[in-house]
Amino acid sequence: MAITAPLRIAVLASGRGSNLAALIRARDAGTLPVEIVAVTSDRATCAALSIARQAGVPVVALRPRDYDSRPAFDHALFDALRDFAPELVVLAGYMRIIDDDVVGAAPWPMINLHPSLLPKYPGLDTHARALAAGDAWHGASVHVVIPALDAGPVIAQVRLRVRSDDTPGTLADRLRPREHALLVACVRWLAQRRLVLRAGSIQFDGRRLECPLQLDADDAPVPDPDAAAAS
Ligand code: GRF
Repeated sequence: MAITAPLRIAVLASGRGSNLAALIRARDAGTLPVEIVAVTSDRATCAALSIARQAGVPVVALRPRDYDSRPAFDHALFDALRDFAPELVVLAGYMRIIDDDVVGAAPWPMINLHPSLLPKYPGLDTHARALAAGDAWHGASVHVVIPALDAGPVIAQVRLRVRSDDTPGTLADRLRPREHALLVACVRWLAQRRLVLRAGSIQFDGRRLECPLQLDADDAPVPDPDAAAAS
């Protein structure tokens, strides 16, 4: 049987780092065949960097104020990433908008975890916006990063039924473990080469993905959103 080398991933994070921790846990449990080659950040003191250091992952933190412009900062960060030769870059709670030209020129595929059922609510305050709109369902998406904010093709989502007493905080807390499962699943499919990102199309299990996969309660991929909602 052919043995596939672990996928070399780099993670960009700015905050708590719970999604990074979930990736590390899955890797350590032997259920995620990746090598986390670097964690990079725009915030030198964020918890995500401590988590990376504790796990022995190389870290790079650059300070935006040391650069003249957003593109200059992003170029420097991506130049630093190049040294680690990642095959995939994962944005997991990276809170800076990356310059469109830098994204467009990136030599690796990039995926981002976003806390809404895209295309609903790109940008910030997604939980509050879902509540204000009276949505019955909320969730999270992993999408391909393109040179437009939160707008790339969606690979997979998790859905959560909104409760009448939910606040933005409770929604975020209830969603967090499902986000972890979603991100780990997407990275695992990429590492297993079940999921292939090609220019203009996403292939899953050898077929073009026509609509986002939905993760069911057992973290299995379901192609039909209604089936996942019922689970
Ligand atoms: C997550 O809610 C993710 O959806 C958003 O930022 C948050 C990151 O959380 N993009 P953490 O830093 O991984 O704990």
